[in-house]
Amino acid sequence: MTAHSDSADLSGRSALVTGGAAGIGAACARELAARGAAVTVADIDGDAAAALAREIGGAAWAVDLMDVAALEDLRLETDILVNNAGIQTVSSIEDFVPARFHDMLMLMVEAPFLLVRAALPSMYANEFGRIVNISSVHGIRASAYKSAYVTAKHALEGLSKATALEGGPHGVTSNCINPGYVRTALVDKQIADQAAAHGIAEQEVVEKVLLTESVIKRLIEPGEVASLVGWLVSAYAGMVTGSSYVMDGGWSAR
Ligand SMILES: NC(=O)c1ccc[n+]([C@@H]2O[C@H](COP(=O)([O-])OP(=O)(O)OC[C@H]3O[C@@H](n4cnc5c(N)ncnc54)[C@H](O)[C@@H]3O)[C@@H](O)[C@H]2O)c1
Repeated sequence: MTAHSDSADLSGRSALVTGGAAGIGAACARELAARGAAVTVADIDGDAAAALAREIGGAAWAVDLMDVAALEDLRLETDILVNNAGIQTVSSIEDFVPARFHDMLMLMVEAPFLLVRAALPSMYANEFGRIVNISSVHGIRASAYKSAYVTAKHALEGLSKATALEGGPHGVTSNCINPGYVRTALVDKQIADQAAAHGIAEQEVVEKVLLTESVIKRLIEPGEVASLVGWLVSAYAGMVTGSSYVMDGGWSAR
């Protein structure tokens, strides 16, 4: 297909964004709606999901995606799936609570797998689908005290590539986005947790821990990540699949 003036238009497309009520997910929901898609905001915070759905003229789905058993028989009819919901825990491996490790892998690996599994049949029937997995620079790099998160994001990279290989012949693309630190509640909490783990002040955490590897010394804005999602699901990106798009201020260039 040749890219033309309305190749970024998503009118007539449906989209589902997990963890869509806040942070990066909310920015994605707004971006996709602004481009014309009918967006479903899926989030454990049903009130916030409903409020955002009202704002963007979409729908809300109150769901705990950690309850993976409930997703096994799901069938989704959506053209675009953004696997975004995620959580963080900062702890040394020897102190890491095993149940928390398990929960994080369920939310950040098993739930994306089950949602992809639920969405592919209708995407295949329509010969069109766009899957965007919000990974992290921690999908390609490790940091101390984040074993479950790093493990989950590396696994998500593998799921995304396997999905790309299976989906390609059916018009379905699958890609990851790998942001560095984005200005959201998830990072606000980490700043406090890292300050406790390292025994230093919060401002020092931002400068010396979070942004130490970043050449550009600022947090990423959620809208910057969402703009890349908007491009990846557009007609311009029809040949982009199995890829991982880093947005990390130069962190992984080292
Ligand atoms: N903020 C960052 O610096 C950063 C960097 C790289 C990648 N990411 C990734 O981006 C994604 C979004 O992160 P964020 O910073 O916007 O987080 P956030 O905490 O601001 O928002 C996460 C959203 O997910 C929802 N959620 C949490 N648990 C859920 C569950 N069990 N079921 C359904 N919804 C649930 C929350 O209610 C919230 O609305 C995550 O996958 C995260 O790993 C974030």
